[in-house]
Amino acid sequence: MTTNAHVDPLTMVVEDGVAIITFDAPGSAVNTVDRALGASLERMLKIIEATPTIAAAVLISGKPDIFIAGADIEQFTEFRTPQDARTASALGQELLDKVEGLRVPVVAAIHGACLGAGLETALACAWRVCSDHPKTVLGLPEVQLGIIPGAGGTQRLPRLIGLQRALDMILTGRNIRAKKALQMGLVDDMVHPAILREIAVKRAHELASKLILPSRSPRDRGAAGVILEDNPIGRSLVFRKAREGVMAKTHGHYPAPLAAIDVVRCGYDKGFKTGLNEEAKQFGELALTEVSRQLVFLFFATTALKKDPGVDEPAPKAARVEKLGILGAGFMGAGIASVAVQQGTTVRLKDAEHARVGKGLASVRAVLMERVKRKQVTRAQYDDMMTLAGGTIEYTGFAGLDMVIEAVFEDLSLKHTVLREVEPLIHDDAVYASNTSTIPITRIAEAAERPERVLGMHFFSPVHKMPLLEVIRGEQTSSEAVVTAVAYGKRLGKTVIVVNDGPGFYTTRTLGAYMNEAGMLLDAGAEIAALDEALVNFGFPVGPVTLLDEVGLDVGGKVGQVLFDAFGARMHPSEAMRRVVESGRTGRKGKSGFYKYGEDGKKGEVDPSVYEFLGTRERSVIPAGDVVRRCVLAMVNEAARCLEEGILRSARDGDIGAVFGIGFPPFRGGPFRYVDTIGADAVVRELEELQGRFGARFEPASLLVEMARSRRRFYPAEGKPLG
Ligand code: NAI
Repeated sequence: MTTNAHVDPLTMVVEDGVAIITFDAPGSAVNTVDRALGASLERMLKIIEATPTIAAAVLISGKPDIFIAGADIEQFTEFRTPQDARTASALGQELLDKVEGLRVPVVAAIHGACLGAGLETALACAWRVCSDHPKTVLGLPEVQLGIIPGAGGTQRLPRLIGLQRALDMILTGRNIRAKKALQMGLVDDMVHPAILREIAVKRAHELASKLILPSRSPRDRGAAGVILEDNPIGRSLVFRKAREGVMAKTHGHYPAPLAAIDVVRCGYDKGFKTGLNEEAKQFGELALTEVSRQLVFLFFATTALKKDPGVDEPAPKAARVEKLGILGAGFMGAGIASVAVQQGTTVRLKDAEHARVGKGLASVRAVLMERVKRKQVTRAQYDDMMTLAGGTIEYTGFAGLDMVIEAVFEDLSLKHTVLREVEPLIHDDAVYASNTSTIPITRIAEAAERPERVLGMHFFSPVHKMPLLEVIRGEQTSSEAVVTAVAYGKRLGKTVIVVNDGPGFYTTRTLGAYMNEAGMLLDAGAEIAALDEALVNFGFPVGPVTLLDEVGLDVGGKVGQVLFDAFGARMHPSEAMRRVVESGRTGRKGKSGFYKYGEDGKKGEVDPSVYEFLGTRERSVIPAGDVVRRCVLAMVNEAARCLEEGILRSARDGDIGAVFGIGFPPFRGGPFRYVDTIGADAVVRELEELQGRFGARFEPASLLVEMARSRRRFYPAEGKPLG
């Protein structure tokens, strides 16, 4: 028996009494759960119910490395009311109830990504077999989109793997690899991909003939888990701790994880059915929140960037980068090397002294070793990666390189010197990238024989953790060099935006405007901790003063100077910053900044002695609303200038750059989404009011004025966020 293979996202064959249902959405690289898939699965379940010769079923994917990637998020944007979303959730729940209650046992054969609604489908099965392939990951990432699992995941997962583990998965959205999934009872078998189908069919037969029983009860829990979870008082404690953990991390800005805790709890207190009802209700409400809309936008924008070659003109083919040279084995150089070797690139790390090369290689080793400890790579893979990294103080091995990334000190003449040294050694087509954070690429390229091969690749620290790469196109940079850098950045796992050249490009420039305003607030007598707290409450991961300590006061001082030289009065450094920088404090790295630091580098209280440099110890109370308005609008206004001057290619890139590069709160979508949320006219009014109080640096960008006048938005108001 075979169903209509050409239009259906599912096909079914029956072999020896086992119905094998294959997910394989036609014309798509991935399987997602949508109406068509739901309807198709429903039809097949009916056939199975009505065919007595079918004794069991197997769900498997026809895609190379994806079981089911999750629900079709496009369909989320069609919800107009919470009831729409609630209905969709209830339909999904009903369908999976049918899978669970089917006359015959169903086995999920999982290879590749099994996420969101995909995992919920697998959870409704009687047995789960997964492949031991690195691409096999299981997770419920819904909270990352501002929602909760809506097809029974909040109820089935805790019943399968226990409360604490389930909460951890649901509240973080983290991916679980095959081996871990087996250990925690999320899957019942782990096998080589080559025998996945065979074993799944075997288990289906065994279940049908009751040789094995479906896994349903929590198992393999640690002793603490058993004691805590199996009684109501222990559970209360688990829920309370989970709530505290979420609040500490999110400051209450993200409703989804809190709702998830309530929904899981409801299932424990009032039973599975009531839990499902509550799940659908909360899913419905969350799907329509502003927070979810913004997070879904970020998802679409990131997906769109994956397909963006980085140039507006017809894109030439990107050259493949197999051999990379890195100049400067310091903090950033070593960081870049650590991500490059993980992608199989051969790296030559060059510094001025042996000791520094050694230190750089040691940092690469440390990053990779951390991955071994977390069981993300094996010891053998670690050894293979380390053999790719070599060091030099004399450019040995530079002749055959495809790309060089320069990460020496932030000093134009030094950057010119190393460029002049390297260019004759590498082949004519090699790309030369500088990791400068402020210096215009066109100025660096002045020393080049082939300025068309020179561009910026601005990574963020720590390189192995930060998701953004800002590629900077100089005046003479060729499109081929741009697409090569963009493609390589993507290979390193980064979300890449391409910006045009200018002092501080996009991210450093907008962050600079924000930090500078924080300095002005210190001049005006703001209390340091209160200043930081106001912006953390707005949603930044840390406040601006803490951030300055992290980045280094010396670095911050230099950046401030570059921006002041370029933009004049608008970026006039504050007295407070100037004096603290001049005092020689360097921040966390020197264990002396605005805050106190312990021997282990742990941040303590504000260091009261720093107020000596701020003119006076007397501090005034500046309302948190004022702090936020001044700092955030300084950043937003600067972002708008970057768009109007053509530094940015789109508002989308500006939003992604701010969220992934400089900590703009994701639930606000980015500076341009923020303007859309409160309205360009309101932003302009506020800026004009600030201009009246504090002067010309708040003069609204003409783009914002124009948008306010013509009542335009950066994004369409409804429907697909990217229009
Ligand atoms: P770093 O001080 O840790 O490393 C610079 C390295 O360059 C040192 O090891 C130094 O010995 C080496 N060096 C100096 N002269 C050299 C030469 N002639 N040949 C080879 N190596 C030489 O500095 P870091 O933080 O790694 O910064 C490097 C670059 O990255 C700078 O342009 C900085 O603005 C930029 N950047 C820094 C970020 C950060 O958070 N630290 C973030 C983004 C960009």
